[in-house]
Amino acid sequence: MTLLVTGGAGFIGSNFVLDWLARHDEPVVNLDRLTYAGNLENLASVRDDPRHVFVHGDIGDRACVDRILAEHRPRAVLNFAAESHVDRSIHGPEDFIQTNVLGTFRLLEAVRAYWSALPGTARADFRFLHVSTDEVYGTLAPQQAPFTEAHAVEPNSPYSASKAASDHLVRAWHHTYGLPVLTTNCSNNYGPYHFPEKLIPLMIVNALAGKPLPVYGDGLQIRDWLYVVDHCRAIDRVLDAGVPGETYNVGGWNEKPNIEIVRTICALLDELRPLDGGRSYAAQITHVTDRPGHDRRYAIDARKIERELGWRPEETFETGIRKTVAWYLANGDWVERVQDGSYRDWVARQYGAQP
Ligand code: NAD
Ligand code: DAU
Repeated sequence: MTLLVTGGAGFIGSNFVLDWLARHDEPVVNLDRLTYAGNLENLASVRDDPRHVFVHGDIGDRACVDRILAEHRPRAVLNFAAESHVDRSIHGPEDFIQTNVLGTFRLLEAVRAYWSALPGTARADFRFLHVSTDEVYGTLAPQQAPFTEAHAVEPNSPYSASKAASDHLVRAWHHTYGLPVLTTNCSNNYGPYHFPEKLIPLMIVNALAGKPLPVYGDGLQIRDWLYVVDHCRAIDRVLDAGVPGETYNVGGWNEKPNIEIVRTICALLDELRPLDGGRSYAAQITHVTDRPGHDRRYAIDARKIERELGWRPEETFETGIRKTVAWYLANGDWVERVQDGSYRDWVARQYGAQP
């Protein structure tokens, strides 16, 4: 019994691998291309664990995936690998098409060939779990009900369009070829090992560095926040009991406007790492030009996964954000090491020169 996890050196994938190995004996083979977002340091605690095998490679490299499948004979493939940052997709959509669309297609084809040749029970029990996003559903007006699994797919950014395309491919591989697939569409995650290009880690890191806290537009855009370990447990549950061909929405029941998130982070830092003279980190908040095509509101209706699989998030936003801020305060070395030259180039391109 082995799992093949793709993208397991990224934010959610590495949290999943660590959480899985802490709670199960089953080994994990981890295929990751190690883009700017992939970091083996996230997996340092399992470096010498024989249950974790890392393979440096691309989900779009058919020969590489075929070799891994033949050698390790996984009972499931969990696809976390993706280009994941909306702002980067606006500056350069091509990588998103390459990995999220073509890469998923090639992975599906390799997995289909492997699965087709499996003997009876192994074939029936096999699963391909695709990790997707609530962004495929588009944006919600203030009074609209949260996204259910039946909501229309209306992606608005190159990132979400590429994820929606991959979801469609996964669905079609089930309906046409019978591949036993599961899809999860999750809301915004936060927690340890989150790359500091995304809202929450960027705000923590910039605040501590005395830099501006760049809030896009009026800051009243709403996201539904979920602590990353809760997401990992939802994936575990779907893998265990999800019905092939089904989609499960995963969310935190935690809708919050961005400006409130930023103010909460500032208040926690004021408490845990106070500035001289009673000044607040909130003085660093700066409203900047809005993201083009910015989705105004996401909210997930997570009743299906609760009703059918018994999953509910354990962490509240208050407990999760406190843990997260504390993790960044305790892991300044990790932050420093991910802020290499390419990170600085990205920040300069997106936000202009910062002090
Ligand atoms: P991330 O950007 O932190 O990590 C992505 C990982 O995939 C990196 O380790 C990267 O090296 C790897 N990767 C990229 N291209 C690859 C390729 N061609 N072959 C192999 N590996 C490749 O992303 P994340 O935030 O951890 O997101 C993981 C998945 O969850 C993505 O599919 C994303 O769309 C989805 N998702 C993310 C969130 C969120 O809030 N972060 C929410 C819902 C869904
Ligand atoms: O909803 C799930 C999605 O959440 C995932 O599929 C994506 O992979 C993940 O990146 C995330 O997308 P968002 O665009 O919602 O996340 P981001 O952290 O980039 O932005 C969150 C909100 O904060 C969004 O409304 C934009 C805003 N923002 C972001 C940054 C980086 C700012 O106001 N300032 C910033 O500097």
